[in-house]
Amino acid sequence: MTETRPLIEAHGITKDYWHESKGLVQVLRGVDFAMQAGEVVALVGKSGAGKSTLLHVLGTLDEPTTGTVCFEGEELVGADELRLADFRSSTVGFVFQSHYLLPEFSALENAMMPLLVRRVHRDEATEVARKILERVGLGHRLDHKPSELSGGEQQRVALARALAPRPRLLLADEPTGNLDAKTAAAIHELLVELNRELGISCLVVTHNEALARELPRCVEMRDGLVV
Ligand SMILES: Nc1ncnc2c1ncn2[C@@H]1O[C@H](COP(=O)(O)OP(=O)(O)O)[C@@H](O)[C@H]1O
Ligand SMILES: [Mg+2]
Repeated sequence: MTETRPLIEAHGITKDYWHESKGLVQVLRGVDFAMQAGEVVALVGKSGAGKSTLLHVLGTLDEPTTGTVCFEGEELVGADELRLADFRSSTVGFVFQSHYLLPEFSALENAMMPLLVRRVHRDEATEVARKILERVGLGHRLDHKPSELSGGEQQRVALARALAPRPRLLLADEPTGNLDAKTAAAIHELLVELNRELGISCLVVTHNEALARELPRCVEMRDGLVV
């Protein structure tokens, strides 16, 4: 392994959809993108530019029409479903604009979920989830259900859940889009701190110009292309 090999690297990514009235819609039109291990990158661009689609392709939630996605040199496009399921559950973590927490479970149980799915022993899962919840400032809310938490707290639980399996790469799609400015700033700060402490690489789609300015690298998408 050479030091210069990117953590994740996408080449020539296109994504077409067939639309009833518009015909063929080219959502991604040949995107090249690479990230080194340890980087935090902001992904910005107008609504409809293709940011979410690119994030989904990088995270293997969606297949590109053409192009390649390599993670540490391993080709993921066309890889078998078992391998991709493993990649999605242990190598990459997702945070979306909506938290998608399970309403009937506590913060602790929600954060443990990806570990239990991976058959980590319950005691160990509890310990890991408790620690990461404490780290995101929710040590005093472990037993609260999502409905008993504020929007910012819910998003912190979602972040803890994404981080519990210790992914190499966090893909965050407008994680603070539903939050007020102050809470959003606190979550952004947390992302940067977690990156520094845990070394988790992070690609974050954001409309927040203050955050995008703060980060060392900002990638802009326009009309299905990285510009
Ligand atoms: N399943 C789909 N079928 C057809 N068009 C889609 C589909 N998903 C996304 N699009 C279109 O792709 C474009 C880019 O979407 P998206 O990646 O969500 O943009 P962004 O996240 O930058 O706002 C939009 O114009 C959207 O309407
Ligand atoms: Mg989007």
